[in-house]
Amino acid sequence: MAAMKIVVVGKGGREHALVTALGASALQPEIFAYPGSDAIFETASPADAHDLDSLIGWMLRKHIDLCVAGEESYLVAGDGLANRCAHAGIPCWGPPKESAQLEASKEFAKKFLRRHGIPTGHAEAAATPDEARTLIGKSYPTVLKFDGLAAGKGVAVCLDEASVESFLDDVFVKRRFGEGRLLVEEFLTGLEISIFGAVVDEHCLILCPARDYKRLSDGDEGPNTGGMGAVASRCLVNDDTFARIEREIVRPTVEGLRKDGLPYRGFLYFGLMLTPDGPKVIEYNCRFGDPECEAVMPLLKGDLAAFCLAGAKGDFRPELISFSEDWSVCCILASKGYPGSSHSGDAIAGLDRVRFAHVFHCGTKKENDGTFVTHGGRVLAVSAQGATLDEARALAHAEAALISFDGMQRRTDIGYRNIS
Ligand code: AMP
Ligand code: GLY
Repeated sequence: MAAMKIVVVGKGGREHALVTALGASALQPEIFAYPGSDAIFETASPADAHDLDSLIGWMLRKHIDLCVAGEESYLVAGDGLANRCAHAGIPCWGPPKESAQLEASKEFAKKFLRRHGIPTGHAEAAATPDEARTLIGKSYPTVLKFDGLAAGKGVAVCLDEASVESFLDDVFVKRRFGEGRLLVEEFLTGLEISIFGAVVDEHCLILCPARDYKRLSDGDEGPNTGGMGAVASRCLVNDDTFARIEREIVRPTVEGLRKDGLPYRGFLYFGLMLTPDGPKVIEYNCRFGDPECEAVMPLLKGDLAAFCLAGAKGDFRPELISFSEDWSVCCILASKGYPGSSHSGDAIAGLDRVRFAHVFHCGTKKENDGTFVTHGGRVLAVSAQGATLDEARALAHAEAALISFDGMQRRTDIGYRNIS
């Protein structure tokens, strides 16, 4: 029988981890990636495509069995990756454009949350700087969110008027994120947690929880980033809280999608704040988290490829995957200037010295001599596992310390801070 063929869409550390996890299937699938990266192409083959149209054509010619959406942008670009796959009869693990609005529009998500009585911070939309100022009044801290995809950079937690004015300038004057409204949201306190659901129509399997570290520097200082590291373990959430998350957030969300006629097959990421009043939704993402994926995937047992293939066809098979009881810690190595800018072309030393951790490539490029150089803001994710948190974090940091490049930035408190 011909091997199953899977294409993973995306190019970062998350997709590198997904390609690795999908490739471990007993079905021995042939894995392709689009647009992929040099590191991903060490285990997957490139898809012969240059845009969504040519990708669909290539998938049909190649008889691709499953398309796995890694990155959100493709889900909402043009007619939407999953919509196009559905039209072409290709099973897709990732939701259609209409449902992906849960991530693409913060206003859409807020209305969904309110409509279905799911706990979240209070928020109102503003179309002008003056409307925003009126909504904020004098209550600080306040949270301002651009209503669209902004690669994790469209949110400002403002402690004072000066930071509000600077963000209003970015959104309404400089239009840094393009055209769009602004949400003024209630500031929530507590520890954040990333909960991942694998949704198949009215069913949802909750995967291993994770916590990412969004600020650039140790001690949760510095600007917000795409994520400077992550910890994953079932132990991050106690049983009571887990049950509450399932009852008050996950179930009503899946039920809400059904009531609203929004089809969903794919990963659904619930960004939650564990507030003193209970868990509340900060955001939905219609994909896995990055760098959480690099921490969670090494804990996966079973057959992810078979699970996603069945799920993409509407067959919910939770028995196909499970997660080990271990801990996982992932450290991000970022390039000089990140997150404001990034630096490409710096030689990366020490990759060959890493023995006891997974190294997933977020933004690298391979030189003609086979060595890797930096190519983007987040460069590498070093992910180590252990039976205890102590073991996993010591290993992750020790292995990450073997790698170096000019201007490298790494947090040293990943796995030490924000555990409980
Ligand atoms: P988002 O892109 O909505 O996940 O926001 C990025 C980050 O901003 C979150 O991970 C939080 O750290 C912070 N944040 C977002 N919304 C709130 C809120 N309502 N209260 C406090 N912090 C928030
Ligand atoms: N780690 C945050 C995200 O993937 O959006």
